[in-house]
Amino acid sequence: MVENKLSPTSITSNLGTHFIGQRVIYYPSLTSTMEMARQEARLGAGEGTVIIADEQTAGRGRLKRAWLSPEGSIALSIILYPSVVNLPSLIMLSSLAVVHSIEAVTGLKPRIKWPNDVLVNDRKVCGILIEGSVRGSIVDYAVIGIGINVNLRLADFPEIQSTATSLSAELGGDVSRLRVVRRLLVEVERLYLTLRAGGAIYEEWRDSLITLGRKIRVKSGKTIHEGVAESVARDGSLLLRHSNGTLSKIITGDATLRD
Ligand code: BTN
Repeated sequence: MVENKLSPTSITSNLGTHFIGQRVIYYPSLTSTMEMARQEARLGAGEGTVIIADEQTAGRGRLKRAWLSPEGSIALSIILYPSVVNLPSLIMLSSLAVVHSIEAVTGLKPRIKWPNDVLVNDRKVCGILIEGSVRGSIVDYAVIGIGINVNLRLADFPEIQSTATSLSAELGGDVSRLRVVRRLLVEVERLYLTLRAGGAIYEEWRDSLITLGRKIRVKSGKTIHEGVAESVARDGSLLLRHSNGTLSKIITGDATLRD
């Protein structure tokens, strides 16, 4: 029987981290862990505090989209107080932490679609949303929101069936959410400490991207860019080569693979 029950104690006990996940606030059901994390950060919650819910009723995705998080999925937010120079790297850190944790627990080999969707067999298994409050060079707080389709029966969600997958769908059996969450928190801390010590995670993130060398379409604000994803810069932006030879630097957007 797969151990799936999440609780502050089951997550934190013998976790082996210094601060990430040492305080866990758990809800059986919540509108969005992002909202609660923002409130907690404003009240001065310690760095690494985790808000986790079995189910979100108003989960938020990037670009103002809704995010489905029924029971069986993982929905959590982590509060951090990074320096402003490390802010762009949070995208890399969080997607790499998800890749490592899925790989460690399931043996699957996830890849990243720029900027930070995690895919298994070309279908989305995890979405990441990063929000925060920054004033000039002062970061009041940052919140990393991670949603992973763990034991999601895709047949129940026809609206995402053609583009999404879940760990259980890939493996043909349920996966322990608890193991994935615990490993994820360990990985987030390891990569965050690497960053804080001045180490680089850019190269590993770049090499985990499924996007480079592919024909893509990127929606960035109201603009649609089409071309070949040539490379990514250290600040996480994408360099896209158009068919007329010009290059666009795209800070963020929604990419669709075209080949
Ligand atoms: C995306 O791919 O659009 C990002 C999805 C992010 C979803 C997570 S689930 C936990 C946290 N709470 C939310 O409401 N959203 C993020």
